[in-house]
Amino acid sequence: MCGIVGYVGHRRADAFLLNGLQRLEYRGYDSAGIATLRPSDSIRTVKVAGRVSELESAVRQQTFVGDAPATLGIGHTRWATHGPATQENAHPHLGGDGIIALAHNGVIENFEMLKAELEAKGYRFKSQTDSEVIAHLVADHLAAAGSDSSVAGCLEAVQQTVARLRGTYGLVILFRDFPDLLIAARCGSPLVIGVGKNEQFIASDTSPLVGCTERIIYLADHQIAVIRPDNIQVLHRDQGRVRPEIQKLAQDSQEVALEGFDHYMLKEIYEQPKSIQNALRGRIDNDNATAKFGGLNLTTGQLRAVQRIILTACGTSWHSALVGEYLIEELARIPVEVEYASELRYRNPPIDPSTIVFGITQSGETADTLAALREMKRKGHHTLAICNVIGSSIAQEADGGIYLHAGPEIGVASTKAFTSQLTVLAMLALYFGRLRHVSFEAGQRIIAQLERLPRAVEQALECHHQVKTIAAKYANATNFLYLGRKYNFPTALEGALKLKEISYIHAEGYPAAEMKHGPIALVDAHTPSVFIVPQGTVYDKVLSNLQEVKARGGPVIAVVDHEDPQVTNLADDVIHIPQIEDFLQPVVASIPLQLLAYEIALLRGCDVDKPRNLAKSVTVE
Ligand code: AGP
Repeated sequence: MCGIVGYVGHRRADAFLLNGLQRLEYRGYDSAGIATLRPSDSIRTVKVAGRVSELESAVRQQTFVGDAPATLGIGHTRWATHGPATQENAHPHLGGDGIIALAHNGVIENFEMLKAELEAKGYRFKSQTDSEVIAHLVADHLAAAGSDSSVAGCLEAVQQTVARLRGTYGLVILFRDFPDLLIAARCGSPLVIGVGKNEQFIASDTSPLVGCTERIIYLADHQIAVIRPDNIQVLHRDQGRVRPEIQKLAQDSQEVALEGFDHYMLKEIYEQPKSIQNALRGRIDNDNATAKFGGLNLTTGQLRAVQRIILTACGTSWHSALVGEYLIEELARIPVEVEYASELRYRNPPIDPSTIVFGITQSGETADTLAALREMKRKGHHTLAICNVIGSSIAQEADGGIYLHAGPEIGVASTKAFTSQLTVLAMLALYFGRLRHVSFEAGQRIIAQLERLPRAVEQALECHHQVKTIAAKYANATNFLYLGRKYNFPTALEGALKLKEISYIHAEGYPAAEMKHGPIALVDAHTPSVFIVPQGTVYDKVLSNLQEVKARGGPVIAVVDHEDPQVTNLADDVIHIPQIEDFLQPVVASIPLQLLAYEIALLRGCDVDKPRNLAKSVTVE
């Protein structure tokens, strides 16, 4: 979703801004822009309704030989919420007669009321965005201060502005009369400051800061930062100055190169043996046949007293939660409920105090997941995050949690984060199980399967060539069905989501047996059904469902884990994956489904890493 960058110091601001925006492209956006300022000049903005590469050309065209480079600037990639993706709606927005420029992430809920007020005062709006309201509001407060033009006056104008905003914001503002000043403010939309030597950086996540500095400050909600080349001052909106904690930029923020792969998604699919190994690393306790976690922040007694677990998440992470429900209920015998975070935040289900809540999230910034966890915390429940991005909002706000250590996931379609989430959830189920009834021997068997996982995923990747051929056969289909049962019902949902996201083909994931209660009506010669049909307790049942589809003339692609003459005779195409116990099958079976979606998207000419309309982290409701 929208991205922000800002720079104040001694280097060319536009170089950092453009490079930073490029690094933020993965978040998803539809327009981009920068604003820069030279001393004694007016603010210059360049905006495009398109990619950062187009912005770069536009900036180049507007840079004149002999121009002294600006050393102050802000930039933005916009994912449209209010108003379409046009040049006018792209940020930064100017306030007043160009006295300030502002980039905003988030949504201002009371913008219409504020806009009417400002229009009545004579402010003319150039865009349809909620963000331009903030720009004029800052300008208006500055104008009200009259001739008192000082840094303190700028800060006061920002404080007065944010006091009037309802909604979420991450703001970075530059002021025409102060060519060495940025002011940033945060409420619900992340901002991180990169601390340099006689220069400072700011961004909506750490990726633009990699290589610029290793010292960072996460701005917290309701904080405002006054940023100058040699000084950063952080204040709480109403409580005055706070001492910012300078942290070290996490090591895994560094791994952002494509390393020879055509797309981040493909790179991340192939990274899974390693990312799963990283999720397992240091967390297996062979002596006690269990798993261990450092950050749950609950005593053994408190963990034993847990009567119920809520897993809340969105999208792919919600699919992980569904697998988690099966895992924890089967292995640990604790009742689990899976809730869409967007629903949980407004529902008010009766929850007793012995319930703990896990938010599952790759980015740690998903607005609904954050809000749902806050709501649960408010009600007194221990909240935990299963999260990939270190230092993200959810990681910081939860009472404890488990990091995935999957490394940066840049492809908008989640792949390695999903399989790492499943790995962590399997360990969590083992951990809870061993605190209760699971025997030492059973614990050892579970560990043996977990330890096989990286190699099994490596072997599953060997199906790539075969999947390519299958993709070519079905790339023109307009509908797909994905069917599986038990642990592989969520696998089917995830397979369908991957295809939808990056190839724009309609796909339905379903529990295989539910198909005959409706979706079977969709089966025809042009609708391929992908069956996940490995060995296990529901094998025969899924096979019957597969026969039902074949009997109606539907083409079948079957994912199997052994030489299976029955399936081979029935299915049109068969993909082989290695055998693993059913509770880990979703990890292994997801590999061919990720590859199938990838190959079909390529054949259809889709932008795999930046699918239309999608954002990597969804930071608005
Ligand atoms: C996955 O492919 C999607 N891009 C999306 O569903 C994603 O999983 C969802 O937005 C949740 O994101 P999170 O894990 O970062 O919270």
